[in-house]
Amino acid sequence: MAAVRWMLRWVAAAAAAVAAALALDNGLARTPPMGWLHWERFLCATDCAADPRRCISEQLFVEMADRMAADGWRDAGYEFVCIDDCWMAPTRDEQGRLRADPKRFPSGIRGLADYVHSKGLKLGIYSDVGKKTCAGFPGSYNHYDLDAQTFASWGVDLLKFDGCNSDSLELLAEGYRLMSLALNRTGRSIVYSCEWPFYLRPLQQPNYTEIKQYCNHWRNFYDVYDSWSSIKSILDWTALHQDTIVKIAGPGGWNDPDMLVIGNFGLSWEQSVTQMAMWAIMAAPLFMSNDLRRISPEAKCLLQNREVIAINQDPLGKQGYQLFKDRNFQLWERPLSERAYAVAVLNQQEIGGPQNFTFSLTLLGNGLACNPACSIRQVLPASRDWGVYGWISSLSVEVNPTGTVLLKVLPV
Ligand code: GLA
Repeated sequence: MAAVRWMLRWVAAAAAAVAAALALDNGLARTPPMGWLHWERFLCATDCAADPRRCISEQLFVEMADRMAADGWRDAGYEFVCIDDCWMAPTRDEQGRLRADPKRFPSGIRGLADYVHSKGLKLGIYSDVGKKTCAGFPGSYNHYDLDAQTFASWGVDLLKFDGCNSDSLELLAEGYRLMSLALNRTGRSIVYSCEWPFYLRPLQQPNYTEIKQYCNHWRNFYDVYDSWSSIKSILDWTALHQDTIVKIAGPGGWNDPDMLVIGNFGLSWEQSVTQMAMWAIMAAPLFMSNDLRRISPEAKCLLQNREVIAINQDPLGKQGYQLFKDRNFQLWERPLSERAYAVAVLNQQEIGGPQNFTFSLTLLGNGLACNPACSIRQVLPASRDWGVYGWISSLSVEVNPTGTVLLKVLPV
């Protein structure tokens, strides 16, 4: 028996070593990256005369960097300030290099990167594998090396590489590979964020083993919107495809369910709690897209919640999965380091009040999470100790409509 157990452990360790060896070997994103990204909240406003506070400009990123450093975001772990689409001038320069719109980014990206670095933060930028970005600015097609070198020379720390306007699936895949290699050749540490599987999926089943060799995280599904229906659709898609996508995630490579929209207009408090809890269960990169100059104390407190962030950033780096679905309830778990588990109970019913969900603790961790006993701590919606439970106990959890209760289960 002991020999069998030893063999099993050996096989598991060998499999983990192979998986680790196959992740993009740039040493980055050992836990899901965290930061701020402009797209969902600020889209593509380029008329700074009409809308100086919201247009995509140097000023916007300087102000976000200031807030991130001054208001506790950086200290909570949010380190990347990321530019999305629409930062560029409409054409490349005489040497064929990309350039920022000179009116909106008077210091250039180099100047902005210096500023962001002076605040102890990192700068992310955006480009596209095809001939044009999704919003119609110059894309990187045929310029992968030059663009990677340009970004590195500016001091960029992350590249979000979109997949619009590629002429074929072959060119799309080749472009994602070439840009990864080009970034590596610059010698600068640049996190590589891809949308490769999302653009492939309608026509071809993505090869995640390959994608993980080239990307630090990758989008699988549609853009997040500031709405509960959007959050729900992302969770439903993830649960439906968990057999293919969960096992591939780990240190160096993550599934990216898109930005956190907490602090905007579309989510209620309960729904915000659900997004935060479930993004932690999914080991998702945490990029907020909101206005840090105007954010409610509640949203800020939720986004900076140290216990949830610790679950998201757990060093074991295993993505969670849905265990069970019963009427309107969903039970999710995520294995954590030191034999702990994060457990989420989500109530999808949108009529009536709080509902109770009762489940057996033997469901958790393949029966091992509470064997022989465990201590349970509620992390969200508020932190609270629930005490010690035996293996065959049941747990009854009250969850508000569209809300989630997030628990941490520790071995005793
Ligand atoms: C695509 C991406 C979004 C955003 C926009 C920019 O839709 O999925 O995240 O980058 O392009 O145009």
